Amino acid sequence: MNILLTGGAGYIGSHTFISLIDAGHKPIVVDTFDNSSPQVLDRLHALTGQKPVFYQADVRNSDMIADILMRESCDAVIHFAGRKSVGEGQSDPVLYFDQNVGGTVQLLHAMNKSGCKKLIFSSSAVVYGNPEYLPIDEEHPLSTCNVYGDTKRTVEDMLRALSASDPEWSVVLLRYFNPVGAHKSGDIGEYPRGIPNNLMPYVTQVAVGQLEQLSVFGGDYDTPDGTGVRDFIHVCDLADGHVSAMKLLDDTGCTAMNLGTGKGYSVLDIIQTFETVNKVRIPYEITDRRPGDVAACYANPSYARTLTGWQARLELADMCRDAWNWQQKNPMGFD
Ligand SMILES: NC(=O)c1ccc[n+]([C@@H]2O[C@H](COP(=O)([O-])OP(=O)(O)OC[C@H]3O[C@@H](n4cnc5c(N)ncnc54)[C@H](O)[C@@H]3O)[C@@H](O)[C@H]2O)c1
Repeated sequence: MNILLTGGAGYIGSHTFISLIDAGHKPIVVDTFDNSSPQVLDRLHALTGQKPVFYQADVRNSDMIADILMRESCDAVIHFAGRKSVGEGQSDPVLYFDQNVGGTVQLLHAMNKSGCKKLIFSSSAVVYGNPEYLPIDEEHPLSTCNVYGDTKRTVEDMLRALSASDPEWSVVLLRYFNPVGAHKSGDIGEYPRGIPNNLMPYVTQVAVGQLEQLSVFGGDYDTPDGTGVRDFIHVCDLADGHVSAMKLLDDTGCTAMNLGTGKGYSVLDIIQTFETVNKVRIPYEITDRRPGDVAACYANPSYARTLTGWQARLELADMCRDAWNWQQKNPMGFD
C-alpha cells in the first residue's frame, strides 16, 4: 500500500517508515521538521536502500496535503504529526489545540477531498487519565487531566463521530504507552530539543554527561519501590504495531487498540537495568512528585494480539541498550 506518514521524520514515524518498507509498503513522508531534522531522511535512505519520497508540508495546509494524497495515490494515512509535551501543552494550549486538533481537522478535509478514507491515528495512554484499574484495557473510561490529553481525546471523539457518520471511513486509534529505545543501528532515535520531558532521553543525556543527574519525580507513590511505574515499549515493536494495525483498515468503522507490553517497570528499575546493561552510572536524586503524574500506568495489550496478532517482543534490556547506542553514536542528536 502507499501510505502517507504525517510527521514521518519524527521519532516514531521514522521507525515506522522502516517497518513499512520491510513489510513491502511504500511510505510517503510529510513533515515540517518542527521537531525533527532533514538528516533523518538521509539516515532512512542509508538504512533501507530506498530514498524516502518526501514533502515538506504542514498538515494544516489542507490543499497541499490533498494534492500529495492524490499525486502519490495514497491508500491510507498514518497521522503522527503533532505536539507531545504535557508541560508545553499546559503553557501554550492554543498551540496544542491548533497543531493536534486543528491539524487533524485539516488532514481530514484533505483526505475527504482525495477520497482516501483509511486512517491510523497516534493516540496515547494519556486518554485514560488517572487509571481506575490496572492493567488498562480499551474499555477503561476515558478521562484526561491535561491539555495534551484533551487534544488526543478530542481527536479520538472526532474520529469516532466521523466513522459513525460516514460508513466509508476506516479508522484505527493506536494508544501508545511509553515508547523508548532506538533502531538497533543507532542511526535514528529520539533527540528532544531542550531538557527532556520523558525518562529515557533524560537517562541517556545524564549517562553521556550532558545533564548532571536525573531527577526522579516522587519516591512515595503506592508502588513497590515508591517511584512511578510505566509500560515502556521498544519503539521498533511500536512501529511494527502500525504495520499489524493496517490489517484493520480492510474493514470500516473505528477501532481503538493499546500498544504496550503489559509490564510495568518503575523509574528505579529503568535506572538499574540501564546501569547493568550499559555499564554506566546514572546519578539521580528523588525529588517532589510532578503535578499531573500518576503512580502507575500499564496496558492490557491482549486486544491488539487478538485483533492483529501483534505483540511486543523486545525486553527492557533491549530498550536500554538501544537507547544508549543511539545516544553514544549521536551525542548531539541529528545536529
Ligand atoms: N513519543 C511518545 O512518548 C508518544 C506517546 C504517545 C503518543 N505519541 C504521539 O505519537 C505521535 C508521534 O510522536 P513522536 O514521539 O514521533 O513525536 P515527534 O515530535 O518526534 O514527531 C512528530 C513529527 O511531526 C512533525 N510535525 C509537527 N507538527 C507538524 C505539522 N503541523 N505538519 C507536519 N509535520 C509536523 C515534527 O516535525 C516531527 O517530525 C505524536 O502525535 C505524539 O503525540 C507519542
